Amino acid sequence: AESGCLSIIVLGASGDLAKKKTFPALFHLHRQRFIESHDVHIFGYARTKMSDDDLRDRLREYLTPRKGGEETHDEDVSKFLPLIKYISGPYDADEGFQSLDEAISAYEMSKDDKGGSSRRLFYFALPPSVYPPVCKMIKRFCMNKSEGGWTRVVIEKPFGKDLESSETLSTQIGDLFNESQIYRIDHYLGKELVQNLLVLRFANRLFMPLWNHDNISTVQIVFKEDFGTEGRGGYFDEYGIIRDILQNHLLQVLCLVAMERPVSLKPEHIRDEKLKVLQSVIPIKDEEVVLGQYEGYTEDPTVPKDSNTPTFATVVIRIHNERWEGVPFILKAGKSMKSRKAEIRVQFKDVAGDIFKPKRKGRNEFVIRLQPSEAIYMKLTVKEPGLEMKTTQSELDLSYRQRYQDVIIPEAYERLILDTIRGDQQHFVRRDELKAAWEIFTPLLHKIDNNEIQSLPYKSGSRGPDQADTLAEKVGYVQTHGYVWIPPT
Ligand code: BG6
Repeated sequence: AESGCLSIIVLGASGDLAKKKTFPALFHLHRQRFIESHDVHIFGYARTKMSDDDLRDRLREYLTPRKGGEETHDEDVSKFLPLIKYISGPYDADEGFQSLDEAISAYEMSKDDKGGSSRRLFYFALPPSVYPPVCKMIKRFCMNKSEGGWTRVVIEKPFGKDLESSETLSTQIGDLFNESQIYRIDHYLGKELVQNLLVLRFANRLFMPLWNHDNISTVQIVFKEDFGTEGRGGYFDEYGIIRDILQNHLLQVLCLVAMERPVSLKPEHIRDEKLKVLQSVIPIKDEEVVLGQYEGYTEDPTVPKDSNTPTFATVVIRIHNERWEGVPFILKAGKSMKSRKAEIRVQFKDVAGDIFKPKRKGRNEFVIRLQPSEAIYMKLTVKEPGLEMKTTQSELDLSYRQRYQDVIIPEAYERLILDTIRGDQQHFVRRDELKAAWEIFTPLLHKIDNNEIQSLPYKSGSRGPDQADTLAEKVGYVQTHGYVWIPPT
């Protein structure tokens, strides 16, 4: 195991992402002793001038217990905060990064092995426009000084706005760091039930023979939020829901649902299989896209009045390979919807030669609910208890809250940051995956940007435009809720 000194440098330490996600994740890792006071130091870096204590005070209110009834103590907070030092400086000038390096080096030299295995993790809680200059600065001034150590950079979307801009960014960063040093976060890959997909699919005999176009009719991957773009309308309007959610989060989930069994659990083997899925996607058809914008979206003063930016999208993805020919993958995401939910619904085909002649179809559906209330359940048709031979739909239900009462499910960022420290890239997006993901959506995005496809209005708190449900039904999704009944003969 690696030991020695680990420096975690949070760039953009005074920003939102750092406060809400990065530092709390580090706090919980520290509390659980995945990182320990005697071998870790945390450096916050940002432009704002402030003292160590100013930063610590700002962070305090975010260092709270995680959902699920956890208890944390003031003592945990007071053990964690002193590990953080703050350094202020610009993102594109030598001095700032020179002093950052001095601070890190001073810490390393204070250790017994004098920085013998200096490990430096740079977490970019920054807007992507400064990724290239910051990477340059790190490369010039802040790399690990000893042979036994390493330097890693952790970055997060948006990685460009389309294929071309993303490739430019990838090249700028790739000229400075090797792929093994770059950790592209997609926080959906850190979610408990997303990580479970690999196990569910490849450790259960039940699913293996069924997981293909002979048996599966449609796959839906759905993301809904019951709030709008409040407070980040300016950012959002430039990107829209496809760049914000579909191109990354939903597409990554799709890969894990659709990929072939990897040769092994090695990160490269898994990422090779995900890449093949992306490369097998055929061009999206305009008639298999429904875009929406919730009413009131353009009232945000940072959003142009005539914006066509979608806050809702349903897009059918088709994978051209032996397993999935003819199976639509319906990706659906929306802001300002009725509820907050993310789930995967794998719907099976009708029973051939069904003898029950139900009034309504009751298909098997395998549902993985990522949030809220993580659950895995299977919809089955069963006999309704009683004297009559009626059928009904019921569920085999694995609800995490019931089954794993005492387990606190870790936050995605906790898990992913731990992976970056351990050097495990399995749950990070490789450069070629990113490129393939942009290849899928770029033609559609350009059409939307040129107003060739319009966003349909929908009411806040609704299911989105009706046309989206119509599209899902048209390509084969069958609503299965409701009562299935057969009259006795
Ligand atoms: C982010 C998007 O990547 O994911 C946000 O930029 C979105 O718009 C968020 O709200 C959703 O993440 P989660 O984990 O709450 O589903």
